[in-house]
Amino acid sequence: MAELGYDGKVAIITGAGGGLGRQHALLLAKRGALVVVNDLGGSIDGSGTDASAAQKVVDEIKAAGGEAVADHNSVATPEGGAAIVKTAVDAYGKVDIVINNAGILRDKSFHNMSPDLMNPVFDVHLKGAFHVTQPAYLIMREQGYGRIISTSSAAGIFGNFGQTNYGAAKMGLVGFTRVLAVEGAKFNIKANAIAPLALTRMTETLMGNLADKLGPEEVTPIVAMLAHEDCPVSGNIFSVGGGRVANVFIGETQGYTKPGHTLEDLRDNWDAIMSQDGYFVPGNLADETGVFFEKLK
Ligand SMILES: NC(=O)c1ccc[n+]([C@@H]2O[C@H](COP(=O)([O-])OP(=O)(O)OC[C@H]3O[C@@H](n4cnc5c(N)ncnc54)[C@H](O)[C@@H]3O)[C@@H](O)[C@H]2O)c1
Repeated sequence: MAELGYDGKVAIITGAGGGLGRQHALLLAKRGALVVVNDLGGSIDGSGTDASAAQKVVDEIKAAGGEAVADHNSVATPEGGAAIVKTAVDAYGKVDIVINNAGILRDKSFHNMSPDLMNPVFDVHLKGAFHVTQPAYLIMREQGYGRIISTSSAAGIFGNFGQTNYGAAKMGLVGFTRVLAVEGAKFNIKANAIAPLALTRMTETLMGNLADKLGPEEVTPIVAMLAHEDCPVSGNIFSVGGGRVANVFIGETQGYTKPGHTLEDLRDNWDAIMSQDGYFVPGNLADETGVFFEKLK
């Protein structure tokens, strides 16, 4: 079977100066994409800048015979997002793929959480995806083609101690992705999300003896597949790491239906509300509402 390639497709990858983003950039460029390697080059908590981070990855891509351009703007502002998309348009004339990957951490247990820990995390992860994706989406909509991949996290989808800021931003990206999938469908724009697990500077103190199995390059194939013209899905989430790829879905139990039910009805039928027998997985709000109406007939 032929290899999957990206001939001439233009990809913006945010936070691609290291970790996961660097791997995505190297693979897409190797397979023929024209890549904007964006990275502000700050520390894990988002402080500082370093223009050499993105440039080093561009140098690596070019040394391997690929095509890339560096961009040092921050995703955290609307101006930064617009400038990143402008870099792509100035260099390559269009945008086909956006990989929202830039990220920072400011962990703290909830009773100690503060706006200076909350706001920058929202600005980079959730608003950052909005800032970069919207100007790119306008181009994608015009050209009738686009692939958008956002980097969510199990910390938000499933919950993790000390990360109300990060978890909320990352779960926000799930909603962002699912609505984009609905809106983008008629323009051949597909939006999906990943929840990765990999050894990077962000996780190097957490992985223990599994570290050598969790290379960041193990996350890239599913991202590349979702970025490809042949991407088979939209509005989906994939958990990925260490060679494993799994679909994460949001399902609903059949539930308990009784118009006018009382508090005691709920207590007495709690098992029916919670039972996962016959659960369903709505593709979007219309699907979910359809099931609702069916029950109310
Ligand atoms: N490594 C994991 O196991 C894991 C798990 C879940 C989610 N993630 C997510 O994956 C993504 C990549 O993280 P990573 O593990 O490769 O860590 P990383 O720190 O190596 O990569 C994040 C990159 O984003 C860049 N960045 C930060 N703020 C930016 C800004 N405002 N504008 C542009 N670039 C900015 C950083 O400079 C850095 O290079 C992040 O969104 C992270 O939250 C990682």
